[in-house]
Amino acid sequence: MSSNSNLVVEEISFGGSDFAEWVSLRTKVLREPLGLSLSEEDLAAEADDVHLVARASDGRAIVGGLILTQKNCAAGQVKMRQVAVDPALQRQGVGAFLLAEAEVVARRLGVVEIVANVREVALEFYLAYGYELVDGERFIEVTIPHYRMVKVL
Ligand SMILES: CC(C)(COP(=O)(O)OP(=O)(O)OC[C@H]1O[C@@H](n2cnc3c(N)ncnc32)[C@H](O)[C@@H]1OP(=O)(O)O)[C@@H](O)C(=O)NCCC(=O)NCCS
Repeated sequence: MSSNSNLVVEEISFGGSDFAEWVSLRTKVLREPLGLSLSEEDLAAEADDVHLVARASDGRAIVGGLILTQKNCAAGQVKMRQVAVDPALQRQGVGAFLLAEAEVVARRLGVVEIVANVREVALEFYLAYGYELVDGERFIEVTIPHYRMVKVL
């Protein structure tokens, strides 16, 4: 667990008491705006992943989070997915704090690079945090444009 004066970031367990709240934030931020949802099959595939969530330090609600998975990754790599911050709290540093904690966890896993398929609308966020385009190829995922990015730790 890491914290600053406003935020606490911690790992939650798959299927544990906070997991449903994390799924509902992701659904609200990442799926409903696209007319999509997270299926039981999507969620079942996340059982072995690291689920990091941020809470305001003066409250218990989950305000953001991300997932790190080693599934289908090369040795020394981890894939970051489902990066989401509550719309009411975007552009207040929650996302940056989550990315910093993701690096701490990745190093703990012995990982040397974090890869991610990022939404075109979020490119500036990842560039600001030291992620680089892998090949510049634009592709469609969950109906919208994405790019492959990487950060070497
Ligand atoms: C993208 C997202 C995770 C960023 O989290 P956030 O908490 O809003 O971002 P932060 O406040 O930590 O931003 C850190 C820096 O990233 C950059 N940044 C963040 N959002 C940006 C935007 N929309 N446009 C341009 N730069 C942006 C800025 O440099 C920012 O620093 P600044 O506010 O001091 O200028 C969040 O806005 C979000 O959940 N968006 C909707 C879902 C989404 O697109 N998720 C990403 C999936 S790949």
